Amino acid sequence: MHRVFAQALTWTSLAACGPSPLPPPRLVSGPPAAADLDPDPHRVVFELVASTTTVQQYGETPSEIWTYNGQLPGPTLQARVGDEVTIHFTNDLPEPTTIHWHGLRISDAMDGVPAIQQAVRPGETFTYRFSPPEPGTFWYHPHVRAHEQVERGLHGAFVVHPREEPEGVGERVFVVDDVQLNADGSLAEFTLDSEHVTQSHGRVGTQLLVNGQLDPPMAPASPSTSERWRVVNVSNASSMRVTVRGGLARVIARDGGLLETPLDLDVVDLPVGGRVDFEVRGVAGEALALEVEAGKHAVGKPSVVAAGVPWNVSTTSWATWPDAPAVQVSSPQQELALTFGRAGGGTDRTWTVNGNEWGEHTPIPLNADVPTRIRVVDESSAPHPFHLHGQFFRVVSRNGVLTDDKAAYDTVMLGPDEEVELFTTLDNPGRWMAHCHILAHAERGMMTELVVQPLERN
Ligand code: C2O
Ligand code: CU
Repeated sequence: MHRVFAQALTWTSLAACGPSPLPPPRLVSGPPAAADLDPDPHRVVFELVASTTTVQQYGETPSEIWTYNGQLPGPTLQARVGDEVTIHFTNDLPEPTTIHWHGLRISDAMDGVPAIQQAVRPGETFTYRFSPPEPGTFWYHPHVRAHEQVERGLHGAFVVHPREEPEGVGERVFVVDDVQLNADGSLAEFTLDSEHVTQSHGRVGTQLLVNGQLDPPMAPASPSTSERWRVVNVSNASSMRVTVRGGLARVIARDGGLLETPLDLDVVDLPVGGRVDFEVRGVAGEALALEVEAGKHAVGKPSVVAAGVPWNVSTTSWATWPDAPAVQVSSPQQELALTFGRAGGGTDRTWTVNGNEWGEHTPIPLNADVPTRIRVVDESSAPHPFHLHGQFFRVVSRNGVLTDDKAAYDTVMLGPDEEVELFTTLDNPGRWMAHCHILAHAERGMMTELVVQPLERN
């Protein structure tokens, strides 16, 4: 099938072809990467098995968690733009599941959502195949009973590298999370169906984790170059404030990849599902760390966790990153309005989009490759990290005030009673979910679908 592109400047990538690929950059620290089982330089094959694992992970009392390949978080998956990626997935869990590739703009058939894909039943397998269209920091997680499956440990980072990268820049992955634990350190019961607090705020953690641990081991930095730190918020309900301490930092990328211009910022409030990449330089005599605390609109206040990175020497300069022109906001030719609301109460709190819960919703038709304004309004007086599958957008305004934010996102924080205006070119046709990423809200109704129809083709 051939896709026709109407816009010159859209999020459509310039992938494929080109010189033979370089080896992936050095992953200095982070969840161990999965092995690529195919020696062909343009093909990447991974094996993922979801299963039950008993760990001492959180404290004295063992917890039964769910993992990909026995790892918490799941293995970091790495590929290059345009690679043919194949993931052989086996479900050894006691219940059906899928894998959704959060932020990867692939075809909807491989998006891992139950409206399209029959969930993979216990003992069964499914093969995901796609070609990542652009570089960036993404992640993967189930899209079935996600409020429980993700919290039990099913989540991992997915890094898509460009064909060429600045030389010698080490990379680290920080998967930040919070888990709700009992006093003895075991994983708390799942009470979404019976309990008002979780229905209202989501499953708020009592303990912050970085890469699945309280005190993740960090390899020392190489002395001469800067590093790229890729941070992913996989929490069920908590935005995370992430701060680089003790060095120099700038923000070089968000959900949709590199920024047009790096921002001099060492702190970011990361919505659930969101990503930020910092470029970091060491300063002699300073202790460098990524500090994680509950962010804006987070309900719980677990204590701060800092992942210390041994780095004793001053780094002299920033790396040079490839040009990444921002998509221009042009006048919209179609509009989409999404209103987030709530219904019920007590132990029957539900959440709605345009007045309907998931299941009662009607998929919303839109045209592909057309400048589109999306207005997302909260009428529930609660925060909602809004996530759109299959597309990127820019954040144009908040409560009518223009932002100067040029980054591409797939997830944005909508504050209580706030209105955000987004711009997108919807250049990836398909059937796409749009939902709140507080997984309890999503599970209790706050999801809908867009059907993005391709232009006429002949
Ligand atoms: Cu990260 Cu619809 O999900
Ligand atoms: Cu929500």
